[in-house]
Amino acid sequence: MLSQVALVSLLASASLGSASPITPRQAAQQVVRINSIENVAVRSNGLILATNMNSATLYSVDPVAKTSSTALSVSGTNGLSGIAEYQPDQFAVIGGGKSIYKVDFSSGTPRSTLIKTITEAQNLNGLAYFDNSTVLVADAGRGNVYKIDVNTGVYSEVARDPTMAPSGGIPFGIDGIRYANGTLWYTNIFRNSFHKIPLDPVTAKSTGAQTTLWTNLMGDDLCFGPNGKIYVTTNSRNSLVEVDPTAARPSPVSVGTVTGSTSCAFGRTDRDRNVAYVGGGQGVFAVTIRV
Ligand SMILES: *[C@@H]1O[C@H](CO)[C@@H](O)[C@H](O)[C@H]1NC(C)=O
Ligand SMILES: *[C@@H]1O[C@H](CO)[C@@H](O)[C@H](O)[C@H]1NC(C)=O
Repeated sequence: MLSQVALVSLLASASLGSASPITPRQAAQQVVRINSIENVAVRSNGLILATNMNSATLYSVDPVAKTSSTALSVSGTNGLSGIAEYQPDQFAVIGGGKSIYKVDFSSGTPRSTLIKTITEAQNLNGLAYFDNSTVLVADAGRGNVYKIDVNTGVYSEVARDPTMAPSGGIPFGIDGIRYANGTLWYTNIFRNSFHKIPLDPVTAKSTGAQTTLWTNLMGDDLCFGPNGKIYVTTNSRNSLVEVDPTAARPSPVSVGTVTGSTSCAFGRTDRDRNVAYVGGGQGVFAVTIRV
């Protein structure tokens, strides 16, 4: 959500709850060094896409060669955050905190086009796949979730809850989101909390009350593992934690140390399906998960 430097200065004035103890299981392997990675997604060819909130550059990272290059510059924006694939090699990415862009790799040369600007949005940050024509975007400032049709740009609010709202003076509430099987999972970064809320699998509208899973560990973005587990990045807690989503009160367990961890996405080739690529303050890191 925020760079490590920005976060550290914000934390100096924020009051945080006590965080649960974390015992790192392994140091993560550095894939590439790029400052302040905000979000990551993995293409089906194995390349990692990475964003930075202060740059229009969408980075392409080769986890085998350990190199990075510019996939493209998203014209019309000055910073990118949440990114997710909704059709083979077609991605939606948030630009400038109010707009959703399409980035299309499917015809060879990558191209970006504006899908929609949500003018009333304050600070769109998290983005998640819902179905092959719909993504969900979370407004960290307003504390709600929109669905948006990536083909028409038509959008509407589908969820709003006090647990999504900012707390204290920092205008950041709901941060990372992921959807699967009728459930939206989300963090609220400065409440140090992790939640889930049921969504209708057709309309995406929330159909019931949220459940709070914890309130004592900072969570930024999250990803689903190949083993049915959920992985959450903890930003200033410098880790990737593993969560059993079937537990009523899950105990997050650290599986890797990454400074300023902001986001994660699993590998998609036979070589790295059990590798979580984690974006953080100093680049992209690899954490191998036991499955
Ligand atoms: C998108 O999903 C719908 C519903 O599952 C399916 O009928 C349709 O074929 C899919 N479209 C594409 C282009 O994959
Ligand atoms: C969603 O359901 C499918 C099919 O039951 C399962 O394989 C998958 O692990 C589930 N995903 C999550 C994140 O719960």
